[in-house]
Amino acid sequence: EDTLEEEPVMYIGLDSHGLVNTAPRYPVDTLLDLCTGSGVQALVASRYASQVTGIDVNPRALRFARFNAQFNNISNVTFIQGNLYQPLGKQRFDIIIANPPFVASPEQALRFRDGGDNGEIVLAEIITRAAAHLNANGRLHIVTDLVDVADYQRKLQHWWQGEPTDSLVLQTADRDAMLFAVPHVHQAFGQRFHDYNTELANWLDNLQQMPQPVAINFGYILIHCHTDKTRPSSYYTRTIHNPSQPIDTQVGDYFRQRQLINAPETQPLQLTINPHIRFRVDSDTCGITTDITLFSPTSAYYTHYQIDDTVFQTLQAIATRNISIVSSADIAKQPILLDLLHKGVLSLHKTSSFATSDTSIINLQASQPTSISGDCKSAPSPSAIQEQATATTPTCLSSYCR
Ligand SMILES: C[S@@+](CC[C@H](N)C(=O)[O-])C[C@H]1O[C@@H](n2cnc3c(N)ncnc32)[C@H](O)[C@@H]1O
Repeated sequence: EDTLEEEPVMYIGLDSHGLVNTAPRYPVDTLLDLCTGSGVQALVASRYASQVTGIDVNPRALRFARFNAQFNNISNVTFIQGNLYQPLGKQRFDIIIANPPFVASPEQALRFRDGGDNGEIVLAEIITRAAAHLNANGRLHIVTDLVDVADYQRKLQHWWQGEPTDSLVLQTADRDAMLFAVPHVHQAFGQRFHDYNTELANWLDNLQQMPQPVAINFGYILIHCHTDKTRPSSYYTRTIHNPSQPIDTQVGDYFRQRQLINAPETQPLQLTINPHIRFRVDSDTCGITTDITLFSPTSAYYTHYQIDDTVFQTLQAIATRNISIVSSADIAKQPILLDLLHKGVLSLHKTSSFATSDTSIINLQASQPTSISGDCKSAPSPSAIQEQATATTPTCLSSYCR
């Protein structure tokens, strides 16, 4: 039975689509979908996990989720009502996936949206208690607003209560307080101007009460436990376009590359350029190169990167196989090479032997700026790889549900 007075069930939003497109799809036995809502994440996961459990506090959401499972003829998903991990006892899973209420909000009008004043009440609890519900080598995949994205390494260290992990935070573009608040305050019908202004002021005040001025980003937190006691936890953050097409393979590759970077020095590794990547070289009227840009016309996993000439030459050498076989020790000495690997521009693959002619890598130091007289501009900036922000961040339509 369904009545209009009950709280709304979350629509399939850009965050729902984004998590479906971003979370790596490893074939596993068990998967937990926290905050399941309509069940969208659980139902997609039922294709790669043998047994899926979906949990939500909202009983109406569970009716929608069960209907959606039946409608799609999916029988390996169980939906349970409850507060996060509470109905599970000590049960553990191979993957936990979550799209929690994550909006930093001065109100609790919508349970699927409002995540407390700083947006992190449910998020923090999910991460803090995750390790107790994950199997060895377990994985946690979350979509969320990122309140003060620069602080997430510290936040994750504080929240996470388990074994070492590799953590990847994917961010889109920052929204300032106004850009963030307006879509949440706007109502589709019957809103008086005075009420709109009062509500907007509440939302802006809420953000101003935070310890320091924040920009609110949107993105994904991906945490993979690892059992290699010889290496510590790692953290990396990078910019993507919010994906409307799958990027789960590239995200999965990031974690595989993390392991290869730590391969024994005796393991020969082949270095290749990701086939999605293209170069664009811009010159001024004097024929002097002004910008070299790396980009992908097809994959939302990449933004644009400005690179300097040294990096460009090295990438060309890799593309033409003049440099291809390396060891993990070579990589460790080269922060720029590491950054290109973490950004997915380069990939490592295990190979059988070192070929002596292949083993040297150009020393990838950032080059000095070249000053050029006359009207022509100077050569590309000395900073080796500049990641450019994406143009947009998904906007919430939740105010239409009120
Ligand atoms: C942003 S929606 C996500 C819905 C769906 N997973 C998706 O990706 O579209 C958040 C969901 O979390 C549920 N929720 C909020 N607080 C919760 C809690 N403490 N425990 C379980 N579910 C919760 C809400 O009822 C809502 O369905």
